[in-house]
Amino acid sequence: GIMREISGIAVMEQALSRKLGIRQAIIVSGNSDESPWVKQELGRATAMCMKARLKGKNIIAVTGGSTMAAVAEMLTPDLAERDWLFVPARGGIGEDVKNQANTICAKMADHTDSRHRVLYVPDQVSKEMYESIIKEPNIKEVITQIKSASMVLHGIGDAITMAERRKTSEEDLEKIKHAKAVGESFGYYFNEGGEVVHKVQTIGLQLDDLSHIEHVIAVAGGSSKAKAITAYMKRAPSSTILVTDEGAAKQLLKG
Ligand code: BG6
Repeated sequence: GIMREISGIAVMEQALSRKLGIRQAIIVSGNSDESPWVKQELGRATAMCMKARLKGKNIIAVTGGSTMAAVAEMLTPDLAERDWLFVPARGGIGEDVKNQANTICAKMADHTDSRHRVLYVPDQVSKEMYESIIKEPNIKEVITQIKSASMVLHGIGDAITMAERRKTSEEDLEKIKHAKAVGESFGYYFNEGGEVVHKVQTIGLQLDDLSHIEHVIAVAGGSSKAKAITAYMKRAPSSTILVTDEGAAKQLLKG
């Protein structure tokens, strides 16, 4: 019956959070590799988690990706009474417009009647250009907001999938493959041991900043992401909450 199924999921959630060494795991049914609607369920679960954890005024830093785009779709105006500001976690890291953090932040703000900021940083700039961009008062202000976020919402991707989806140079792609990267998050690429083997150079949130942020929510599902999730979780702060699906969870508990 349904109760058995529910308690079955609860047991898996416990086992998974323990295995990954993180605060909490939330598992939705299905496998997002096979059924696209499962991403909406990941979104719904994430929205509930945000609602439960955030009170009053908050800055929420968000990464890009199709999973985050699905989260944005599931946010509703009843969350709006809370005074939220959405900021992109990092500058341009080569995604398509619909997958970009800027676009997703705008949508999240729109769906919750709250505010957002944008961070426009070209992907390929010279060092001199970069140095002058980060001195721009507007950019500086957004960076300060990012660093004072109380929540981070982020995706986790398969390393090669992400490297290919972004317009990664041939040279960097070789480097990523050679180093046997399996996972990616925030523009950082990780090997199976959780070591950073490559990083997209951009401004905004750096991996080390995560430990200062109260709520860190990773949203990633699909059995094909199991290796990526395992790798990233070796580096993730132990306060991390993972929102995932059964497809990934079963694979994660096997390994
Ligand atoms: C990217 C994020 O935009 O999306 C990454 O910056 C993440 O951190 C990736 O790995 C995940 O994408 P998707 O489409 O699988 O949710």
